[in-house]
Amino acid sequence: PRSIWLSRHGESIYNVEKKIGGDSHLSVRGLEYARKLPELVKRSAGDVDLTVWTSTLVRTGETAQHLPYKQLQWKALDELDAGVCDGMTYEEIEEVYPEDFKARDDNKYEYRYRGGESYRDVVIRLEPIIMELERQENILIITHQAVLRCIYAYFMNVPQEESPWMSIPLHTLIKLEPRAYGTNVTRIKANI
Ligand code: G3H
Repeated sequence: PRSIWLSRHGESIYNVEKKIGGDSHLSVRGLEYARKLPELVKRSAGDVDLTVWTSTLVRTGETAQHLPYKQLQWKALDELDAGVCDGMTYEEIEEVYPEDFKARDDNKYEYRYRGGESYRDVVIRLEPIIMELERQENILIITHQAVLRCIYAYFMNVPQEESPWMSIPLHTLIKLEPRAYGTNVTRIKANI
C-alpha cells in the first residue's frame, strides 16, 4: 500500500522576516532541516522508492537538495499568490489594505488577494496534481503552507472550505496512508 509524505520547505529568510510570498532562500535553520530531511524520510519510508515533487520556488528546491530520489518540479505547487501583498508582513497589509485584511478575516477561503489568488483558486489549480497523485505510488511533496493545507484537507476528507485552518507546521514530515475507510496520519517532528 502506498504512502504520501508532505513537508513544507524549511524556514526561509522571508519566514524569519514575517513576510509572505516572495522567492527567498532558506535561513540557517531551514538549511539544517534540509540536511536532516533524508534521515527523517528514511526512518518513515524505509527502502521504498519514492519520487519528490517540489514547487518551482527556490525554497522548496533547497529543502529537497540532499534527498537521494528523483525529483519533479510543478508550477501548480507554487504558493498561494498574494498579488499586491506579496513581500509584505501581515501588519503592513493591515495598515495599507485594511478593508482587504478584514475581508480575508471574514472569509479566508473565498478572499482573493488583489492581483493574486484565494484558497479556492489554489484548490482548483491543484486538481491536476491531485489526479496525478491518485495515479502514482509513493510521493514526497515539498511545497508551501497554503498548498499543503489544501492537499491535506483533500486526503483527510475535510471540506475544502476548511483548508485555511489546517495545521501544517514547519520542520515536520507528515505521512499519509490513504486507505478504503480513511487516511492514517503520522507526524514526525525534526526538532530544529
Ligand atoms: O502566504 C501564504 C501562507 O503560507 C498562507 O498563510 O493563508 O494563513 O495567510 P495564510
